[in-house]
Amino acid sequence: MEKTATVRVDLSRGVGDRSYDVLIREGVLEELGAGSLRLPDAESYYVVTDSNVARLYGGRLRNGLSGQRRGRVELLSFRAGEARKNVGTAWALASRLGALGAERGSVILALGGGVVGDVAGFVASVYKRGIGYVQIPTTLLAQVDSSIGGKTGVDAPWGKNQLGTFHQPLAVITDPTVLGTLPRREWINGLAEIVKCAVIADEGMFERISSLPAGFDGSSGIPVELIVGACRVKAGVVSRDERELDLRAILNYGHTVGHALESSSGYRLSHGACVILGMLAEGWIASQMGVFREADYEKQTELLLRIWKGAGVTGLRPVLSNKKRLLRFALADKKTTSSSLRMSLPERLGRMHTTKEGRHKIPVSDEAFVRSIDYLREALRSQR
Ligand SMILES: NC(=O)c1ccc[n+]([C@@H]2O[C@H](COP(=O)([O-])OP(=O)(O)OC[C@H]3O[C@@H](n4cnc5c(N)ncnc54)[C@H](O)[C@@H]3O)[C@@H](O)[C@H]2O)c1
Repeated sequence: MEKTATVRVDLSRGVGDRSYDVLIREGVLEELGAGSLRLPDAESYYVVTDSNVARLYGGRLRNGLSGQRRGRVELLSFRAGEARKNVGTAWALASRLGALGAERGSVILALGGGVVGDVAGFVASVYKRGIGYVQIPTTLLAQVDSSIGGKTGVDAPWGKNQLGTFHQPLAVITDPTVLGTLPRREWINGLAEIVKCAVIADEGMFERISSLPAGFDGSSGIPVELIVGACRVKAGVVSRDERELDLRAILNYGHTVGHALESSSGYRLSHGACVILGMLAEGWIASQMGVFREADYEKQTELLLRIWKGAGVTGLRPVLSNKKRLLRFALADKKTTSSSLRMSLPERLGRMHTTKEGRHKIPVSDEAFVRSIDYLREALRSQR
C-alpha cells in the first residue's frame, strides 16, 4: 500500500514555470516541525490557520519551525468556519502581515481546511502584489481537492467565491495522519470528491472504493492510496488546463446539481452530500442521453446510494420538492456561462464524454435537469 507519494503539478508551459509537488506522507507535519523536511526558502514564515487547527497543530508547527531558524515565524489565526471566508478576514490577515513587517520574500503556510487554504491563498496572491504560499491541508476535502490547482478566493454577500484569483502554491504538504482528529461530519465532503475523481478519470480507483466494506463512509479512516489517487487526478487535470478553458470543467462533475441543492438548502446540507446526489442526478442525465455506458452507470448508482445511506443526511425533502428554485440556482451558478445549462458527463467509469468538437461541457436542457430531480426523489424513496 502506498504510504508516501509525490504528485507533480506540471505548469511548465507558458510564461514562467509554476510547477510544484504535492508531497503526501504520514507524519510529514512532525517532520516539518522537527526540521527533517525543508520548506521553500523564505525571509520569514507566517502560519495562517483557523481557531480549531491552531489549537490542534498550529502552535506545534510554529514552535517547531521557530526552534530551527533565526528568521521570524508567526502564527496568524482566525475563527473557524465558512462564515469567516470573507474580505474582512483577508483584510485582517493582510493588516497583521503589514504590521509584522512581512516582505515580498515572506512565505505563508496555509495550515487548515479549504477555508484556510482559499483565504490564505487569496491574501498571498494580493499582498505586495503576490508572495509565495505553501498549502498544508488538514481536512480530507482540502487534501484531495482544494489545496491543488491554485484557485483562491473569498465569499461575498452575493455568492460564494465571488472574489478570487489563480495563484499556485509553491508546494503542497499533505499529512493524512491529521485526519485522525477530523470530525465525522467533515468526511463526506472529501469522500465525495474522491469518488468524483474516480468516476471522471480512474476506473481502478472506482473499483477500489467499491470494494471497501459496506457502511464505509471515510470516518473509519481512508486508505492513503485513495488520497494519492485523487491528487493524481486533480493534478493531471490542472496541469493540462490550469485556467479552466475546457478540460478542468470535468472536475465539476456532480457540482451543477450539487451546488443547486447546497444553495437551495441555505448551505444546511453539506457540500459532500450534495455532490453525491449531484453525481447521482448528472449520471442519470448522462444515462438518459445515451452517453453513459449502462453497466457503468449502474455501478456508479450503486456505490453512491451506498455512501448516501451511510451518510445519515436529513432535511432533504423540502429542498428536492422545489424544482423551480433548484433550476434557478443551477442557472445562476457561475459555471453556467451561456443561458442554458452545461455539464460535464461521464461516458464510462474513468472517462468523460466529449462533444464532436472535443469539448467537455455538454448542453443539458432545463427539462432534463428538472427530471433528474424527480429521479433523485424516486431513487432516495426506494432507499428508505
Ligand atoms: N480552491 C479550490 O479549488 C476549492 C475546491 C473545493 C472547495 N474549496 C473551498 O473549501 C472550503 C471547504 O473546505 P473544508 O471542507 O476543508 O472546510 P473547512 O476549512 O471549514 O474545515 C472544516 C472544519 O474542520 C476543521 N478542521 C480542519 N482540519 C481539521 C483537523 N485535522 N482536525 C479537526 N478539525 C479540523 C476546521 O477548523 C473546520 O471547522 C469551501 O469554502 C470551498 O469553497 C475550494
